[in-house]
Amino acid sequence: MDIRTVGIVGAGQMGNGIAHVFALAGYDVLLNDISAEGLEKAVATIDKNLERQVSRGKISGEEKAATLARIRTTLTLADLGPCDLIIEAATEREEIKQKIFEGLAAHLAPQTILTSNTSSISITRLASRTDRPEKFMGFHFMNPVPVMQLVELIRGIATDKETYDTLLAVVGRLGKTAASAEDFPAFIVNRILMPMINEAVYTLYEGVGNVRSIDESMKLGANHPMGPLELADFIGLDTCLAIMNVLHDGLGDTKYRPCPLLSKYVEAGWLGRKTQRGFYDYRGEVPVPTR
Ligand code: CAA
Repeated sequence: MDIRTVGIVGAGQMGNGIAHVFALAGYDVLLNDISAEGLEKAVATIDKNLERQVSRGKISGEEKAATLARIRTTLTLADLGPCDLIIEAATEREEIKQKIFEGLAAHLAPQTILTSNTSSISITRLASRTDRPEKFMGFHFMNPVPVMQLVELIRGIATDKETYDTLLAVVGRLGKTAASAEDFPAFIVNRILMPMINEAVYTLYEGVGNVRSIDESMKLGANHPMGPLELADFIGLDTCLAIMNVLHDGLGDTKYRPCPLLSKYVEAGWLGRKTQRGFYDYRGEVPVPTR
């Protein structure tokens, strides 16, 4: 199937990155959010990130202008109905995602492919509540989307071959690489990454190391580009906790229990970079550990 128009639901950190890479690859993008301010912020972020690419000689000024011109925004979910492909990139909460798919249902064109950028929720279950489980897939991008090469493709139990082949071709056109994952909790990347981050939080909780020594150890001792606590702040501690809960509930193994310290930070509203505080405090000139 030929994909030309892409509707993206949610203009947060993932949604704006997804809009960026699709528009840059030549797709017409319609970006939806419930907040007008959120949409404005998303377009400003895309502008800034495209400018970074211009200043590093990765794209030209003309390409940047053409990319921005291919992005339209709307506060009305129903406007996305006629798009060839819809990517839901809202908050990682199943009831919110389900409401979005329900809200779209009456407006969808028959051929529209539905996808979710969920990092952990069952694709089969999300699909089963739509009118087109065979045209539904997990389409999981990594943060920051314009930089990270990987896209996870997750088929639900009913997903047909045409839908999978179409998305595989889309990933190729984006210049990214696809990895196929079966539909089990948190798929591949987060099945491995989140227990590592959770273990880093236990390492802090039990006093084995402090924030700096834990991050330095993994950066300099294992060549990770970011330490696990810094990365948790970058992803969002609420998202990390939500994914650990999906692993714990879905696999029923105590090795996936979220660290109580992670829950405490989330309860405090210290969600990482997006709220300026998490394992680090970002309010000053340089990030400093909060404990
Ligand atoms: N848009 C466009 N370009 C960007 C960008 C963005 N949002 N962010 C960074 N860049 C570019 C920079 O311009 C720079 O370009 P050049 O190589 O041409 O110089 C390059 O990326 C590197 O950036 P910086 O020099 O600013 O900083 P850095 O070297 O410290 O790299 C990083 C930043 C790429 C984020 C790196 O720290 C990194 O790879 N961190 C780990 C990220 C990671 O693990 N992501 C996965 C998270 S898990 C996930 O997303 C799944 C989930 O469901 C939770």
